[in-house]
Amino acid sequence: MDKVSVIGAGQVGSTTALMIAQKEFADVTLIDIVQGLAKGKALDIAEAAPIGGYDSRVFGTEEISEIEGSKVVVVTAGLTRSPGMSRQDLLEKNATIVEGIIKDIARYAPLSIIVMVTNPLDLMTYLALKVSGFPWHRVVGQAGVLDAARFRCFVAAELGVSVEDVSAMVLGGHGDSMVPLPRYTTVSGIPIPELLPSDTINRLVERTRRGGGEMVNLLGTSALYAPGASVALMVEAIARDKKRILPCSVCLHGQYGVEGVCMGVPVKLGATGVEEVIELELTGEELEAFQDSARICREQIDLLKI
Ligand code: LAC
Repeated sequence: MDKVSVIGAGQVGSTTALMIAQKEFADVTLIDIVQGLAKGKALDIAEAAPIGGYDSRVFGTEEISEIEGSKVVVVTAGLTRSPGMSRQDLLEKNATIVEGIIKDIARYAPLSIIVMVTNPLDLMTYLALKVSGFPWHRVVGQAGVLDAARFRCFVAAELGVSVEDVSAMVLGGHGDSMVPLPRYTTVSGIPIPELLPSDTINRLVERTRRGGGEMVNLLGTSALYAPGASVALMVEAIARDKKRILPCSVCLHGQYGVEGVCMGVPVKLGATGVEEVIELELTGEELEAFQDSARICREQIDLLKI
């Protein structure tokens, strides 16, 4: 089996490790600097395996050098939000943490594909790209899969239909400027503007934009199950070379009129990482919202002097 490493054994990291193990497509190395945390979580997941019926091996360690040989390295390490904090508030502290980790990834797993999860997501993805020196297609951020899953969940509940039949597309940054696209959100192929009145769609779009904050207000910290499931899906697409079309944060090179910023766009994810960036046809308004989102991200990159 391929080896996947997950750095950070907090809520999102350990949920990701569990979900990867349950899907049985890779062995997982879980890493955390907190003494015993990764070892304990990994052992717990391994002890659930006889009941869950999965044979992926899960191994916990404090040593980041153990990532050697990983096909994919997931980075969840960093501070999470508390009520009243935006993802941006995490910027400086997480930038320092992430920078150190990315240097270690470049050293110990130079051929891996990095999946960034730490917030603020698009900035941390850009930082990972710059610090690692990896080609752009081997650094990808998780956000759109989660945001689209939230949108799908809300649409399915509103219509009283199976979540399986709802497909959604969310572009842009992972924050208040994200751009859910109702025209590209469908129920078994039927675009939702044909099924729901526009004020209802606007309400669901707004709830999606604030989905992370809704969780922080309820839990006092960030969400874990939906983010973990989203990361596991992306890692599976890479490990199994599924070539799934998923919204992910990648560095753009002119697509959608944006240059040198990591933003959520639909991509093809396979064994070599991001195999293609798909350019949807957007209305003037949608494109403007996307480019606004990119402008905000660019300002922050400049501020951080990445
Ligand atoms: C969220 C955090 C993880 O959207 O960014 O829940």
